[in-house]
Amino acid sequence: MSTRNALWLVCVGAIGTGAALADDSPGLGQELTARELAAVDFTIMPDGDGLPAGAGDAVTGRDIYNQNCLACHGENGTGGVNDVLSGGHGSLAGPKPLKTVGSYWPYATTIFDYLRRAMPFQMPGSLSNDDIYAVTAYLLFVNDIIAEDAEINAESLPLVKMPNRDNFVWGYTPE
Ligand code: HEC
Repeated sequence: MSTRNALWLVCVGAIGTGAALADDSPGLGQELTARELAAVDFTIMPDGDGLPAGAGDAVTGRDIYNQNCLACHGENGTGGVNDVLSGGHGSLAGPKPLKTVGSYWPYATTIFDYLRRAMPFQMPGSLSNDDIYAVTAYLLFVNDIIAEDAEINAESLPLVKMPNRDNFVWGYTPE
């Protein structure tokens, strides 16, 4: 038997043991509370299906961003230690593509879904739906996609057309 096959057997053996242990749980961990579960148990579709009630604009979003996001993502979404969130428009086909929420993401609704699911990085689920609508509006505003006072809610967010939307192709069949 080759060393490689022997390794596979060891791996399969280990998985088998793991499954046996799972059936006889040592009782570690703890059940999620309803609030913790609600913070992750949702899906927002590109067309906005799944968006909750609530609303916000970039004016309020700026304050929420400055308190909860600026430390990692920089002023106006740029210059921070983590991902750049604004700019890069028109750069994708050039020699130095800068993928940001504004230059790359095809659907504005994904911003809401992502923020509610994953940000702030150290405390996801800590912002209210109104706060997330407002920060979403702020990110769209600093990317020059909407006006600063435009209200973003479950009806208006799906109508926002992202600059890179048409460069995503669905149902492509190679010839
Ligand atoms: C403690 C640092 C930290 C804070 C605070 C934080 N983020 Fe992030 N953010 C990150 C990191 C790290 C990533 C990359 C995560 C990954 O790739 O899995 C990220 C990714 C993102 C992305 C995806 C970027 C992309 O192009 O893929 C967005 C949008 C975002 N953050 C927005 C926010 C907003 C809005 C807030 C405030 C509500 C926030 N973040 C707070 C660290 C942070």
